[in-house]
Amino acid sequence: MSEFGLPEGFIFGTSTAAAQIEGAVNVGGRGPSIWDEYASTHKNILDASSPAIACDHYNRFEEDFDLLRDLGGQAYRLSIAWPRIQPTGHGPANPEGVAFYHRLLDALIERGIQPWVTIYHWDLPLAMQDAGGWQNRDTIDAFVEYTRILRDEYGSKVAAWMTVNEPVVHTGVGHAVGHAAPGLMLLGSAFTVAHHLLLAHGRATRVLRETLSTPVGIVNNHSPVEPAGDSEKEARLAALYNSYHNGQFAAPLLTGAYPAELEELEGIHFDVIQDGDMDIISTPLDFYGINYYFPTKVGAAPPFYPVPFAPREYDGVPVTDFNWPVMPGGLTEILKQLKAAYPNLPPVYITENGCAYDDGPGGDTQDTRRIKFLEQHLSAIGDAVAGGVDVRGYFHWTLMDNWEWQEGYTKKFGLIRMEPSTLDRVPRASFHRFADIIAAHRAPATNVPPVIDQAPSRARVEIP
Ligand code: BGC
Repeated sequence: MSEFGLPEGFIFGTSTAAAQIEGAVNVGGRGPSIWDEYASTHKNILDASSPAIACDHYNRFEEDFDLLRDLGGQAYRLSIAWPRIQPTGHGPANPEGVAFYHRLLDALIERGIQPWVTIYHWDLPLAMQDAGGWQNRDTIDAFVEYTRILRDEYGSKVAAWMTVNEPVVHTGVGHAVGHAAPGLMLLGSAFTVAHHLLLAHGRATRVLRETLSTPVGIVNNHSPVEPAGDSEKEARLAALYNSYHNGQFAAPLLTGAYPAELEELEGIHFDVIQDGDMDIISTPLDFYGINYYFPTKVGAAPPFYPVPFAPREYDGVPVTDFNWPVMPGGLTEILKQLKAAYPNLPPVYITENGCAYDDGPGGDTQDTRRIKFLEQHLSAIGDAVAGGVDVRGYFHWTLMDNWEWQEGYTKKFGLIRMEPSTLDRVPRASFHRFADIIAAHRAPATNVPPVIDQAPSRARVEIP
């Protein structure tokens, strides 16, 4: 045990996503993604920007990884852009795209940093969307082929695989209400998308395991849910929202069944489930990735709302620039809740957690709020560990200010300030604080590979 009550061997890192940092969207044979298309309608993005440049990480990753080395974390979570590997989502691998990620992974390994790779962080090749995207079951076959390419190319370099990032957000925000790519408003019938994403996860897990023993997990966004008031109706709505946001994804993965009450929501029908699907989805996981940002309070929805529940604000709680409440206790709570609901919960890694704060002129120039946020959330993890939850690592979101999806460049989540007009990188005070936390924790226990007891048989990337 050390500072914040984190156990020995606990690993630290940062987390990023390809579409948010790489840029170079027309370079090296990359095909267009649904996010390029979505951002081409300027009103979809708060500052009318696009992922075309993002942080130009495609051209600057060596410089970025030097900073990552200075930070000192053992691991780094990145995602691979499917349209760089297969420009249309089908067919042979694009050699330039494949070579790019070899260089990227090698650059990490040379610096002693474990690459943790997310296979799908929302950037579907546009051609796949034109063929029905995640509503079309055939997209799962294509995803499996894409995974096979990654497995065969990068299997010896990747320390841990994460199949899909936050299916709840991709389903809900992207496909149910249309506030993110691909911008569909399917409401309840977006359940098909959720089911197909989970199936894609299960099949990809099996494909990876055909030849690798590298740990495989999925990344879910989780949020503890509380009712807005004391009435029975509000308690019921909170339970229903909990089933939607948390249970819809955790339960099929860990128990092999969706929460039955999901079908109470208009448009959700389990008839999309075929024989054998639940078995595939519940393929055992080596680890469980959790992204935590804030808890959720829900009350009754106003009339003519498509769902019976609606979020409520917390009174008297500080918020980030995203208007997200800062409530670290919610992280302890959701970890304990998941452990209680799913006794078979595998080892957990916090794969994302962070906050948007501007420290520019007139802002928090000393970056004190981000430092506090970081410290409080690490303590919250320590509390969960003390409560019996097996949490083994923490990836801060994110390394540097990036292209924050529909928010464009307006939300600053970075430990490093990245100025979009110059692309200059300047580590913030939180970067230095995190580096100190990591250094204090790492000594003397160093070089602990992820979930070592889960993957006994295969040689893994050795971290010098
Ligand atoms: C996503 C990230 C995103 C972050 C902050 C998560 O939902 O996985 O891509 O940038 O939240 O909004």
